[in-house]
Amino acid sequence: MTDQPAPQVEHSPQSLTLTWDDGARHRFDAIWLRDNAFGADYRHVGNDQRLFDIADLPSDLAITQAHIDDEGALILRFAPEGETLVFNTGWLRRHAYDAVLAEGWPDCWDGRMANRLTPHDYSAVRDQPSALFNWLDTVRRDGFALLKDVPTTGGHVCSVAELFGFVRETNYGRLFDVISEPDPSNMAFTAAGLGVHTDNPYRDPVPGLQLLHCLRADGEGGASIVVDGYEAARRLRETAPDDYDLLRHWRVAFRYQSGDTDLCARRALIESDAGGQPLAIAYNNRSIAPLDLPGHVMADYYRAYRHFSEILRAPDLRVRFQMGPGDLFIVDNRRVMHGREGYAPGARHLQGCYADWDGLISRHRVLQRTLNQEAP
Ligand code: FE2
Repeated sequence: MTDQPAPQVEHSPQSLTLTWDDGARHRFDAIWLRDNAFGADYRHVGNDQRLFDIADLPSDLAITQAHIDDEGALILRFAPEGETLVFNTGWLRRHAYDAVLAEGWPDCWDGRMANRLTPHDYSAVRDQPSALFNWLDTVRRDGFALLKDVPTTGGHVCSVAELFGFVRETNYGRLFDVISEPDPSNMAFTAAGLGVHTDNPYRDPVPGLQLLHCLRADGEGGASIVVDGYEAARRLRETAPDDYDLLRHWRVAFRYQSGDTDLCARRALIESDAGGQPLAIAYNNRSIAPLDLPGHVMADYYRAYRHFSEILRAPDLRVRFQMGPGDLFIVDNRRVMHGREGYAPGARHLQGCYADWDGLISRHRVLQRTLNQEAP
């Protein structure tokens, strides 16, 4: 049932341990194994959805027998139900959860990423599944990718989002024009430079992805800048762990108001998992609301907030690039911050839209499955 040699099996009533030829050793709890039982008694044959709830299982589950059969499958017997479950050991290795906990800081990049910044070709991405896969793969790995030669017709940014998912419509519309306006509803719609930020932290859920497409760029100025929030967070934790903990512990409010809109959401500047590793960054000096933290925390929080902001300005953290007509960048709005330098009013026209991560990840996974199946 698996290409790998069968692992050694040990068990106690509450857990199972598999030891592989290469020395890897993984522990699985009895309740986890029973909860992930395969077969028509446990999962719907058509859609593979689970047919029982956790409270349907005995609270005193115990593994009574465990062995590998002649075909390499793991056979487990459970008390008090007397159920016999069959597992593919390769599946278990792929789902080993103690290995997940052992993983380190997520992969991240600094300013040297500019050296490997290769734009993907739009027509190839549109027409060839392998090119689309490579583009989405870059977005998943780096949280950022460039496309070149996107037609400069208005609205095309939405067609690019539809290559992998759905446009996330907001109060700014299905798409928005980033161009200097006489009466801007947002500082983005001016010619001013913008420090690096994540978009719309006042929205819940926050848009997972932003796409920005350059239709016109005349003259100098307006260079784009991106910074990997995971790398910035790593530097903060390395130099000032107390500051890092403050930013991940306290949730602060972000707000946006206009004539017909009033958006407010509360989130940590660094959202983290139970192990303290970053999951998402929210940083936007324009829309952070008056802090309402406890009095004894405020001064320390401002110190940490300033420290993080200083790190975001570090020249060696930044990737700077100039967008020209037909260029489009996509950015992980929960990880990578973006900003721009100022430009002459009227000299630049970008269109942007938002999309969500679930569609992108789904398309990436399906393509991976399809391309693997097509491989000789
Ligand atoms: Fe922005």
